[in-house]
Amino acid sequence: MRRISFNNTIAAAVLSTFAFSSNASETIKVGLMLPYSGTFADLGKNITDGFKLAISERNGEVAGKKIEYILVDDESAPAKANENVNKLIRRDKVDVLVGTVHSGVAMTMARAAQGSKTLMIIPNAGADQLTGELCSPNIFRVSFSNWQAGYAVGAMMAKKHKTAVSLAWKYAAGDEQTAGFKEAFEKGGGKVLKHLSLPFPNTEFQPLLTEIASLQPESTFSFVAGAAQVKLTKDYEAAGLKDKIPLYGAFLTEGTLVAQGTSAQGMHTALHYADGLDTPRNKAFIESYKKVHGQNPDVFVVQGYDAAQLFLAGLDAVKGDTSKQDEMITAMKDAKIDSPRGPLSFSKSHNPIMNMYIREAKGDKNVMVGVAVEGLVDPSPNCKM
Ligand code: BEZ
Repeated sequence: MRRISFNNTIAAAVLSTFAFSSNASETIKVGLMLPYSGTFADLGKNITDGFKLAISERNGEVAGKKIEYILVDDESAPAKANENVNKLIRRDKVDVLVGTVHSGVAMTMARAAQGSKTLMIIPNAGADQLTGELCSPNIFRVSFSNWQAGYAVGAMMAKKHKTAVSLAWKYAAGDEQTAGFKEAFEKGGGKVLKHLSLPFPNTEFQPLLTEIASLQPESTFSFVAGAAQVKLTKDYEAAGLKDKIPLYGAFLTEGTLVAQGTSAQGMHTALHYADGLDTPRNKAFIESYKKVHGQNPDVFVVQGYDAAQLFLAGLDAVKGDTSKQDEMITAMKDAKIDSPRGPLSFSKSHNPIMNMYIREAKGDKNVMVGVAVEGLVDPSPNCKM
């Protein structure tokens, strides 16, 4: 396990152990288990920055107790997840686990949180099971289920196209976003001609693009994320497909538009945040983030920020006394969060209910051009809570 502790002035890449001198009753311990290296490194950093921003807006404390961070780089490696999460739970005795990005890692975290009754807030990972079979009173998600992400894109694509091919990483996120996409696309009258996949975090797209060119669908749905989405849009453009067979996805252009250059311009995506959301709440959030980081936030910053907002809703209800977990959970499940993305509340399985926006990539922004689905609820049929 790589254990990292850092404050805003030290880069996430610095790996060190940092011991706080105060005892557990004087501080509230937040275990951030996120990727700080590899394909999803930027996502982990942005989630961390968003979480810390919301806490810093409260001067870093609740009811006189300081918030203490313990950071672990999970490397998006499911094989290391059990060891990593158990050190945070058993050795560091964190009051809340915040993590992670990768669905496979998050499922191991959720099992450990369930077994130890540790409060857990998921700031990205979309695995449907997290708020399905694995749902639990002490587990909350502030991001999305993979079904929600795929479904919104399918609903958007069905309005323009009759046929599609899907291309995704072969793991929970790719399989489930593709299933959500297919459900909405076919419900809207479309037909999926073929599903193509490659292992995570492989980026050898060329053979799949050759197959798409020969299948000649009207459109392509995709799921890869982080650094890999830059490679995908560039390879797609270089293969001459961009203007012939439009490429779609939920995350495809999020946080990477500058690196993508012309390859992503004009692309449409559907997600629960957009750069042009013209609300006082979003404007204030952007200002606050820019003051510290000098750039615009993306959806991952928003998800980190809202993870902290949800935790604060629980902490405020018990005046910082985390031993009153039942009371915290009651406050959290009923929370109505004033999120930069718009209204955010929670379903019975503790999954977000939120608007899914249609965005168009213009310059360095994913501009909102419509709403794909309003107030989308994951039905979570396998959650027995
Ligand atoms: C996932 O593994 O659930 C995931 C990773 C990156 C972006 C979206 C979903």
